[in-house]
Amino acid sequence: MAQTDTTDRGNWNSRIGFVLAAAGSAVGLGNIWRFPTEVASNGGGAFLLIYLICCFAIGFPVMVAELSIGRKTERNPVGAFKALSSNKFYPLIGFWGVLCGVMILSFYTVVAGWTFSYVFEEIFFFAGLDSWATYFAEVSNGVKNGIFSTIFMGATVSIILGGVSDGIERATKFMMPVLIGILMIMIGYVAFQPGAATGFAEYLKPDFSQISAPLIFSAMGQAFFSLSLGMGALITYGSYLSKKENVPEAAAFVTLADVGIAFLAGLLIMPAMYMAESFGVNIFSESGELLASSDLIFQVLPALFHSLNTTAGIIFGVSFFLLLSMAALTSTISLLEVPTSYVIDEYNVKRKKAAITIGAGILIISLIISFDISLIGSIDFIFSKVGLPLGGFLICYFLGYVWTVKNALEELEHGYPGLDSSIFKAVWPIFIKFLAPLAILYNLLEAIGFISYIEQLF
Ligand code: PFF
Repeated sequence: MAQTDTTDRGNWNSRIGFVLAAAGSAVGLGNIWRFPTEVASNGGGAFLLIYLICCFAIGFPVMVAELSIGRKTERNPVGAFKALSSNKFYPLIGFWGVLCGVMILSFYTVVAGWTFSYVFEEIFFFAGLDSWATYFAEVSNGVKNGIFSTIFMGATVSIILGGVSDGIERATKFMMPVLIGILMIMIGYVAFQPGAATGFAEYLKPDFSQISAPLIFSAMGQAFFSLSLGMGALITYGSYLSKKENVPEAAAFVTLADVGIAFLAGLLIMPAMYMAESFGVNIFSESGELLASSDLIFQVLPALFHSLNTTAGIIFGVSFFLLLSMAALTSTISLLEVPTSYVIDEYNVKRKKAAITIGAGILIISLIISFDISLIGSIDFIFSKVGLPLGGFLICYFLGYVWTVKNALEELEHGYPGLDSSIFKAVWPIFIKFLAPLAILYNLLEAIGFISYIEQLF
């Protein structure tokens, strides 16, 4: 990907090409599948508020950090750390990122497979073929999951092979506005359905008493996952970026696009949950909390689409799941690009061989997950919720104290002539050296119980 030929490193074809590809990486299942699930299981509005703070105060600074490291070194995440320091420890940061990418991709293809299979569920439902619709709606059918994950991995590998930044650019350019359009129309529809007001209130009115350490930890993990940070995906994308680009501006655009789409997804799914309840879908657990299992949106959204008449249902149901599949594809491409670029750069392997071998290896893990979807929760916990913020912390530390902010700012000056007198220059170093790494560290230590252990000692 992002190549002018299939063996060399290349550059993005155009400025908008990079921004679209980075936005394509960011916008995916994280926004529409993972975000609403986290909102529902973490007290609604309180989660949204903390999530927004995490995206802007931690995510955006880390995104600029990753892009600047990538553009400076023009290397994969492991090679980038090698290039900037002779200490053998630092490339391990990149290596951890590669591992997180591999493991996240292994479950991501399964969930992406569900999305694609729901395209068929909607078609058969509206065609009146109920038993077929039910078959395509089964999320724990191992064979079906395996087939759809394989289709997804196949599509990802073939796009990566082609060096087709063109394809991603075109797909994203078309996909984003249509996805936003469908989300808005559906929000307009759901707003007038029974239960919607409760859903909106739950989402938009923060109940501050709900803010807790686990909520903050989940919101931080969600911010990293959704913005594709902490594992070097944006080091890799930054490595194809031209010196003419204004990195902070591009990062701001990607952050806003990603946060905006997640926000819209919440506006649709929270009220849709209550609407689905009025149609008989069970959305509360026995203890009265909102149910938020990994198949939440696959319960709630079809209930919404099925409430439409046949023409509207086909148009919205089919195109929504199709677009979500495309959004997932532009994310799986970036997830696979990380280990692929690592093997190409560091072991001198041809792009074709690297992408096919790594894709096949990850597919084996996906097939195991296909038959036991309860694995998704644990892999997601270790490699997304803990793994990505940990990677982000190490990236902040490396940039702030090893490569140094001064060198990073010199790199950022390319494409940003007004940098010297900007607020960005005054503020970003404080976030990257102090605020972001301390917030991440505190949250990670809190999550493993270290902070309460220390508190008990005193
Ligand atoms: N950001 C993607 C999403 O929201 O679906 C997932 C993702 C892609 C995470 C690439 C990490 C990554 F490096």
